[in-house]
Amino acid sequence: MYQTRKIGVVGQGHVGAHVANSLLMQGIADELYLCDINEAKVTSEVQDLRDSLSFVPYNTKIVNCYDHYEELACCDVIVNAAGKVALAAGNRDGELFFTTDAARSFAKRIVDAGFDGIFVSISNPCDVVCTELWHLTGYDPKKIIGSGCGLDSARLRTEISKKVGVSPKSVDAYMIGEHGFSQLAAFKAATIAGKSLNELQAENPDKYAFDHMEVEELARKGGYVTYQGKQCTEYAVANSAARVCAAVLHNEHAVLSASTLMTGQYGEEGIFTSLPCVIGAEGVEEVYTLDLSEHELEGLHKSCQHIRDNIAQLDW
Ligand code: LAC
Repeated sequence: MYQTRKIGVVGQGHVGAHVANSLLMQGIADELYLCDINEAKVTSEVQDLRDSLSFVPYNTKIVNCYDHYEELACCDVIVNAAGKVALAAGNRDGELFFTTDAARSFAKRIVDAGFDGIFVSISNPCDVVCTELWHLTGYDPKKIIGSGCGLDSARLRTEISKKVGVSPKSVDAYMIGEHGFSQLAAFKAATIAGKSLNELQAENPDKYAFDHMEVEELARKGGYVTYQGKQCTEYAVANSAARVCAAVLHNEHAVLSASTLMTGQYGEEGIFTSLPCVIGAEGVEEVYTLDLSEHELEGLHKSCQHIRDNIAQLDW
């Protein structure tokens, strides 16, 4: 008997609505369950998506769950996109209290209702919200995946690609740490065709020499370039979360930069942050540590400290 693939999306703002659309367009789920505390908004999003069904290649059942979070318990994956992007103008930390309060309002209800799938959490500050989801629910941390630096890694690959003239898909490079201003590029471990950027630069400086700090900064600030003109980011972050959902539902064992619980990597533990993770049906199956330069290692510890400082402001 065919097992339907069910994905729930909590939050139907800019990001959640685009997650639902991306999942629909790509046929990643058979059934989509949408929640939002604003009944009129979620009803409109459901209608809009249903109206798209004639034009997309796959049929998807779309269910309006309003604020009945328990209805998501049947899902294989639940995407958390509850947030208030206006609070993030200039800094994702601006959403700290809003998103952690939001997670408190639904996470335990969903788990208590018997949810046994994977949480994919986007809401910012992403690493803090993921840590909170784990803390509130006692859920298996491997089954909580933060979209984290997946998108920033894509931004980094694009910026490297523009400098060296190789497709971003052929650049293997990661932004790691906090999905925020303290994130950093793991340049020492970045490769193209198995060669490090340093090796390539030594071989062919005309093509491969570029200012690493400039490129790192472009990746780090990319979200705010988008934010400037439209006061949100939506398509890319939604697509990055849909990518994680696909890796889970297809049990891909795909290596993606994602926010995951630190369990001693580089001496860090007890918080979520981004490193390259192997992602499949069970969630995060393995976390890779990268060979970091001293400067990068120092940056990673600072980034983890920033996450801890944010968590310290919360009433846990
Ligand atoms: C971004 C937001 C979603 O980086 O954090 O686009």
